[in-house]
Amino acid sequence: MLRKSFPTLFALIATILIVSSCSNEEEVVDNYDPARDYFTFANTEHFITEHLVLDLNVDFESEELRGFAMLSMRRLNSEATEIVLDTRDLTIASAAFLMEDSSASAAFSFGESHETLGTPLHIVVPADVGEQFDLMIEYKTSPQSTALQWLPPELTAGGKHPLMFSQSQAVHARSWVPLQDTPAIRITYEATVRTPESLLAVMSADNDPLTARSGEYHFNMPQPIPSYLLAIAVGNLYFAPLGEETGIYTEPELLDASVYEFADTQAMLEQAEAMYGPYEWGRYDLLVLPPSFPYGGMENPRLSFITPSLLAGDRSLVSVIAHELAHSWSGNLVTNATWRDGWLNEGMTSYFESRLMEVIYDVKRVDEERVLMYRELLLDLERVPEHMQALAPRLDDTTSEDFQGGIHYSKGQLFLEFLEKAFGRETFDAFLTSYFQEFAFGTITTEKFMDYLEANLLSEEGSPVTREQAEQWTYQPGLPDSVTIPTSENLDTAEALAHAWAGSEIDLAAVPVQDWSPQATIHFINSLPADLSGDMLGELDSGWGLSETTNAEIGRTWFIQVATRRYTDAYERMEAHLNRFGRGRLIAPVYGALASNGKDRELAQQIFERARGAYHPITAGWIESGLYKSD
Ligand code: BES
Ligand code: ZN
Repeated sequence: MLRKSFPTLFALIATILIVSSCSNEEEVVDNYDPARDYFTFANTEHFITEHLVLDLNVDFESEELRGFAMLSMRRLNSEATEIVLDTRDLTIASAAFLMEDSSASAAFSFGESHETLGTPLHIVVPADVGEQFDLMIEYKTSPQSTALQWLPPELTAGGKHPLMFSQSQAVHARSWVPLQDTPAIRITYEATVRTPESLLAVMSADNDPLTARSGEYHFNMPQPIPSYLLAIAVGNLYFAPLGEETGIYTEPELLDASVYEFADTQAMLEQAEAMYGPYEWGRYDLLVLPPSFPYGGMENPRLSFITPSLLAGDRSLVSVIAHELAHSWSGNLVTNATWRDGWLNEGMTSYFESRLMEVIYDVKRVDEERVLMYRELLLDLERVPEHMQALAPRLDDTTSEDFQGGIHYSKGQLFLEFLEKAFGRETFDAFLTSYFQEFAFGTITTEKFMDYLEANLLSEEGSPVTREQAEQWTYQPGLPDSVTIPTSENLDTAEALAHAWAGSEIDLAAVPVQDWSPQATIHFINSLPADLSGDMLGELDSGWGLSETTNAEIGRTWFIQVATRRYTDAYERMEAHLNRFGRGRLIAPVYGALASNGKDRELAQQIFERARGAYHPITAGWIESGLYKSD
C-alpha cells in the first residue's frame, strides 16, 4: 500500500474534485498520462538499470543494513546528464561510476522529500561514461526504513533470536536499496548478505534448502524482476520440504504446523502449470513469518512471504497460498506497468486463485469464497468514491491504492469471470495462456490488455462481448449489469438459518455448524440482524466458542460484530485477538468498528496504544487513520 493516511487522502481527493468541477470555466491544464508511473522520481526514459549487485551487513543492534549497491545501467539518451534514483531515509556515503578501465567518483545530492515518494537522489553523470556502466553506491538504511521490520526475540515464535523482514511493495524498496523503484523496469540481481552466524538469510532469489549456517549468504536472481519484488528476511529460519520444488522456511516452532497446513502447495504448483503454462522461476517456497507481517501473503518470487495467521490447523485458509503462487504468472511474470493497473496483478490473480482452488478442492468451497468476496466488494463500493471505483482509476501521487479498498481484487475477478462465461472456459483459458506467454517478463497497462483482448477475443466474428462493454468494467464506477453475482447453496442455507435462529424459529442446536466450513460460519455471523439482543449474542458465543476461535477469519468476523454491536462481554477476548494478530485485514476493521460504534473510540485508542509496539508500521498506519480521523 502506498504510504499516505486516509484523512490526508480525503482532503486531497476533495481538492481534486473541486478543481475538476471548476474545470469548465478555468480550463485546468491536465496532462495526466495513464501509462506513466507517478510513484517514482527515476528518469527511466534516460537511464535504465539492468542488473543489481548488493553487498549488505545486517546489523540487528543498530537496526541497519550497511553496504553497497552496484547498479549496472544503460544510457538511453546520450544528452542526459543526471541519474535520478528513488531513496527513502537512506544515508549515502559515496557514489562512483565504474567504466571499462577507469572509475570516477560521482557528485550526488538529495532533492526535496515527498511524503509518499521519499527523496530523489540526483547523480551527475560524466560525459565519458559510455552507453553501459556500473554505478556503485555505498549506503546504509535507517532504523525507520519503511520496508524493514526489525523484530526483537519476544515478537518471534521462538522468543530467542531477532528476526528482520522486508515488504517492498508498493514503493518501499527505495527505503532499503537506492534504485529506480518502479514496476516499469526489470532487473536481475545478486547479493551477498552478512548476518549473525546463528541466523539464516533468505531472499526472493535462488535459496538453496541445503545452505549451511555461516553468517555469509550468496544469492542470485537470474530472472528479471520489478523492484517491488526485491525481498529479504533474516532470522532463526529452518527449511522443510513439501514436494520436489516446494518447501517451507520458518522458525522451528512453526515448521510442523506449516508443513501440515500448506501440504497442497506442490499440487497447486503443478495444477497452475497445467492451466496457464510453465512456472518460470525454479523453486517455489514459502516463508512463514511472525504475526506482525502486515499482509496475508506477499508474492516475492521463488519465496512467498506468508502470515502465520493462516495456520488454522484445517487448511481452510490456504486460498492465500493459491493467490501468492498465482502471482508467479499474473504480476511477477506479467507485471502491472504502473500502480494504476494494479487490477491486472491483483484481479487476475484473484481469478487465477479461485480457478486453482476449484481444481485442488472443489467448486462448492470456492463458491463460498466467491460470495464472501462479493459481499466485501459491496461494502467497498459503499465506501470508495465513484471516481476510484473504476478498475483502472486515475492514480497519481496524490492518491493511494488504499483508496480502492479491494476493488481491483474483486471487481477484477468478476470482470474476468464475466469474460470466461461469455467466451467459455476453454477459449478463455487459451487466451490467458497466450497472454502470459506474449507479455512474459514484460509490463502491461490496462490499455495494452484491452488491445490484446480485442485482437484475440473481442474482434472474433460473433463475439458475445464488445470493447465498449469490456471498457465499462475498466473505466466506469460500480458494477456493470453484465456481472454474474456469485451464489453458494451452502451460504444460502447458513443465511436462512441465521435468520431463523435470530427470529427464534429454531434453536441454536439445530444449526449444524460442526459440518460447516469456516466460510459458512462467517456468513452466518454476517447475516445476523442488526437488532439481535446481547443475550442471543451471548448464547451464540458460548454455544460456538466464537471468542475462543482459532480460525483467524472467523475471529475477524466475530470481533467486528462484537465491536459494532457493543457486545462488551467479549471485549477482553477481542483485545486478545487484537494482540495476537498483526495482519492488517484481521485487526484494522475491528479497531474501525470500535471507533465508529459511537461509544468506544477512546477505548480503541487505548487498546491500540498498548498493542502498537508489536505492530508493523503499515498495519499501525491503517489503524491510526481509522482511530484518529475527525468525522
Ligand atoms: N501483493 C499483495 C499484497 C500487497 C498489495 C502489498 C499491495 C502491498 C501493496 C498480495 O498478493 C495480496 O494480495 N495479499 C492478500 C491476499 C489475499 C487477497 C488472498 C492479503 O494480504 O490479504
Ligand atoms: Zn495479490
